[in-house]
Amino acid sequence: MDIKKIKENLQEAEVIYLDSVDSTNRYAKENFSGSEGAVISDEQTKGRGRLSHRWESKAGKDLTFTIVKEISMDIRDAFIMNFYTSLIICRVLKKFGDTQLKWPNDILIGGKKVSGILTETESKNGNIRFYIGIGINVNSTYFADEINDKATSLKKVTGSDIDIENLLTDILKDFFNGIEMVYDVKKVLTEWKKDFNMINKEVSFRVNDAQEAHHARVLDVMNDGSILLEMLNGEKLKFYSGEISFIY
Ligand code: BTN
Repeated sequence: MDIKKIKENLQEAEVIYLDSVDSTNRYAKENFSGSEGAVISDEQTKGRGRLSHRWESKAGKDLTFTIVKEISMDIRDAFIMNFYTSLIICRVLKKFGDTQLKWPNDILIGGKKVSGILTETESKNGNIRFYIGIGINVNSTYFADEINDKATSLKKVTGSDIDIENLLTDILKDFFNGIEMVYDVKKVLTEWKKDFNMINKEVSFRVNDAQEAHHARVLDVMNDGSILLEMLNGEKLKFYSGEISFIY
């Protein structure tokens, strides 16, 4: 990867580039000293996903990176960083196909997952330090049987190889240039909902990875980032990010 090109496009941000690492989130938490930047790796050997899932990627073909951002923010608003980041990625990926957002922070193209986000936080000097781990299926074309009908890549969608450095540069630039938006929670959610097409849809979901699946209708995404569902018996329940996973 041509890391010079990426660095040239970012002013303050510190960029660490690795050939291989277990997880860029783990590495960033232990090694990143600056207040903003990114850890990028060509390969991850133990990529972590949400709800203790694994995140698979192909060395040199896909993007696996962690954005580090230290920011002064009310802890009650910290949830907005996931919505903001998925919105930025969704907008950048729009030129490749029909992107949509899936609560809480997956990016889909043609109904299949192309990118996922795993955010971790720490408090430091009275600020919140975010480690926003992002995986994007870029030039991979093979997916294991279990996920083949749920996952896709930019190459599969467009039929051509994607320039991975340009894509990463666009995402990092847009993320850092637009970051002030996180102080306007309502604006982020309003923009986010424009690409969220689950409202009024029937969904099935699991709570905390339980075996049992439930059915419900999506009513809304609330101002605190939770999702409001109407259960089959008419009961309305709010779930927070990390509690439930949707089954496609
Ligand atoms: C998900 O959808 O489950 C979240 C996937 C997040 C994967 C990224 S890849 C870079 C960073 N490092 C990790 O170990 N995970 C995140």
